[in-house]
Amino acid sequence: MAAMRIVTVADDGTLARVAADLICAVVGAKPDAVLGLPTGATPVATYRELERRSAAGKTDVSRAMVYAIDEFAGVSPATPGTNHMFYRAHLRLPVRALHVPDAVAPEPEAHIADFAEAVRQAGGFDLCVLGIGTNGHIAFNEPGSARDSRARVVDLAETSRQAHAAAFGGIERVPRQGMTLGVADLLEARAIAVLATGAGKAEIVRRAIDGPMTAAVPASWLQAHGDCTWLLDAAAARTLRPR
Ligand code: GLP
Repeated sequence: MAAMRIVTVADDGTLARVAADLICAVVGAKPDAVLGLPTGATPVATYRELERRSAAGKTDVSRAMVYAIDEFAGVSPATPGTNHMFYRAHLRLPVRALHVPDAVAPEPEAHIADFAEAVRQAGGFDLCVLGIGTNGHIAFNEPGSARDSRARVVDLAETSRQAHAAAFGGIERVPRQGMTLGVADLLEARAIAVLATGAGKAEIVRRAIDGPMTAAVPASWLQAHGDCTWLLDAAAARTLRPR
């Protein structure tokens, strides 16, 4: 049965605390939880909050396993802008393991399929946290991604490449392809939380939550999930229909 919760908070500082509460609750109930955690500007404050709580002994993440949900393809992982570098900079948590797809895997298609299989072998995601691209992407499932799409190599949308231009030091340096868990892989998570902040996300959040389920807005497939929580700040939630 599909169940979607929408939690709206005043600002992104509050959102970071509420998102950290949610993640800590999952790890509190199951210390060896398997978590999918996204990159992007949105979750950075949440990760900082988790780091603070962990350092203060308020949460114990030492047995949790973290899996990235996507990565760029065909570029050295040490290149500024990759997800590998993002996690190094922003996810400084003493988790048991942090797995990120290998951006220079010689056979990226097989590599990302194996990566998805490793998540399943680990027991599957207890919680998968997602962001949403302004074009509706989740992980690197760009518009056109089917509900039954699996882990694969994808061509990145121009908007997605633009969003990463600064981190890579120019649009021409942003890889044209990425590796991503598929929509179906993400929907297998026992629980999902989507974080979105700012007015720039309001329109796509509205289409994802209130619009029809469609491959044109991959995040709309989350409507089919049985335990999906949208965590929004007021700016991102402002065009949702009243409920
Ligand atoms: C990136 C990632 C997504 C992320 C999204 C939103 O390209 N592939 O996993 O959720 O874009 O990023 P931001 O939070 O910076 O808006």
